[in-house]
Amino acid sequence: MEVLVFESIKSGSLYAAQLIANEIVTNNSVQEKTVLGLATGSTPIQMYDELVGLHKKGVSFANVVSYNLDEYYPINNSSSQSYHSFMDEHLFKHVDMHPENRFIPNGEIEESAISNYCEEYEQSISRNGGIDIQVLGLGLNGHIGFNEPGSSRDSRTRKVDLSEVTRTAAIKQFGKEELVPATAISMGIKTILEAEQIIVMAWGEKKADMIKECVEGEVSEEVPGSFLQTHPNTKIILDASAASKLSTENISLVENKLSKT
Ligand code: F6R
Repeated sequence: MEVLVFESIKSGSLYAAQLIANEIVTNNSVQEKTVLGLATGSTPIQMYDELVGLHKKGVSFANVVSYNLDEYYPINNSSSQSYHSFMDEHLFKHVDMHPENRFIPNGEIEESAISNYCEEYEQSISRNGGIDIQVLGLGLNGHIGFNEPGSSRDSRTRKVDLSEVTRTAAIKQFGKEELVPATAISMGIKTILEAEQIIVMAWGEKKADMIKECVEGEVSEEVPGSFLQTHPNTKIILDASAASKLSTENISLVENKLSKT
């Protein structure tokens, strides 16, 4: 794992956006598609703003295919709290991606169809050649996607129960806890770890303990983010507060030196 600490959320977000844009530009130059795994939540919002800015400067998303990590279940895909709406608002409506290339787990699927649907989600990722870059945030309980503590290293896309910690964190979107769905559809840990490259972002002091667990703790199902230690190409992008509990030998302080695309 490479841990990179930035002086602000803005500079860390710009760095993450540039990594993604560079991959897109490189693939575009040889007429190859770029397959992105995307996250929602508060963490990647500024990164999406930066990506939209890079699109306005000329980066085309016409050859980008994306798979979102998760969606609440059940939920109306068009409701304001859905991750479908989040993606429209923060990325899709601003860039030239083709609607048929944007995949998000379907919060409206019949219960009896979920298992086949999840298998097809996995197969669709494989048919597109696998994920080039997976973007992740980190839950307060160490979840990645909605793989809550106890999720297996071998888990695949499936319906999951949301933990109390996760449902409490979602009250700000849903108004009160009774309105937060108890379940979700999430890519599995194995699905995530198959991505060629993983970019994890975390900001603020409230993520510091979990970042320490994920980077320096034991690899364990109790902290799903700790499985990232076993991935060969993962960058952890932090601000100083999120990095504040890490041993200094594990971190690099960085100025954003990536070339502008
Ligand atoms: C979102 C997701 C979650 C979030 C995590 C952090 O698609 O899969 O794992 O990344 O809950 O959420 P925020 O960024 O709101 O702190």
